[in-house]
Amino acid sequence: MSELSVKHLLGIKYLKEQDIQLIFETADNFKEVINRSIKKVPSLRDITIANIFFENSTRTRLSFELAEKRLSADVVNFSASQSSVKKGETLIDTVNNILSMKVDMVVMRHPNPGAGIFLSRHVEASIINAGDGAHEHPTQALLDSYSIREKLGDVAGKNVVIVGDILHSRVALSNIFALKLQGANVKVCGPRTLLPKYIESLGVAVETDLRKALNWCDVANMLRIQNERLDISYFPTTREYTQQFGVNKVLLDSLDKEIVIMHPGPINRGVEITSDVADSKQSIILGQVENGVAIRMAVMYLLASKIK
Ligand code: CP
Repeated sequence: MSELSVKHLLGIKYLKEQDIQLIFETADNFKEVINRSIKKVPSLRDITIANIFFENSTRTRLSFELAEKRLSADVVNFSASQSSVKKGETLIDTVNNILSMKVDMVVMRHPNPGAGIFLSRHVEASIINAGDGAHEHPTQALLDSYSIREKLGDVAGKNVVIVGDILHSRVALSNIFALKLQGANVKVCGPRTLLPKYIESLGVAVETDLRKALNWCDVANMLRIQNERLDISYFPTTREYTQQFGVNKVLLDSLDKEIVIMHPGPINRGVEITSDVADSKQSIILGQVENGVAIRMAVMYLLASKIK
């Protein structure tokens, strides 16, 4: 397979396993590029990309911008908080105005699930979903699987547990789709109130005992509690959550085997993981961030080849 089966990257749900392998093989080449002394290639010299962010971001936004610049694309950045969205302009009007300036690709983060899908039906540009509410965050899941592949050689057959607030997490949903597509075994672990009722229908097992989940897994992907999305109290106190679902060094060192610790960020240190776990040699958290640039370069390069 030499090209993606999709014109947009709206979610992992729309990808085939071969798409993921193509993205990884392309990212391998770009990872080599970004470790050279001259980190730039002319691949997207004729492409203009708009990064439009209606929600806060550190990693995703910087990573996309850096990836675009490494590919020599022209880049414009749009932040909703400093825009005419504040004056009541709609999403389609906003994006059509940006596109009339001859933009080829839009990277969008939006608080509403399905915002990217909606946009893809109304505009000509190629759309990349950089996180839509509690729905999907496809490039995060791709960089997570790529990091597992890099660390453990393969994703197929690996046991991965996703721990924390599964209910509100776009990272969890995209990771589940990506891991299952590649043949990994997936469990989720967290308070029952933060596990969606449909989760087992995705082929995922539930484990509410953290020690059992960690002793089963090769990789633990630790998610933060998304306080900004919690409309009610899902657990009694943060302290109690940490006691039951937080990973500290004593727990990590007492497991039957050495597991890999991942986290998409931002980390709430001392809540879902302690600092000595986040900074331990078992943690690949900063490796995930590094891989994010190569993965995003690969996604944009492959999508750009489909622009007429
Ligand atoms: N992982 C992630 O999406 O982080 P940001 O919210 O900082 O982009």
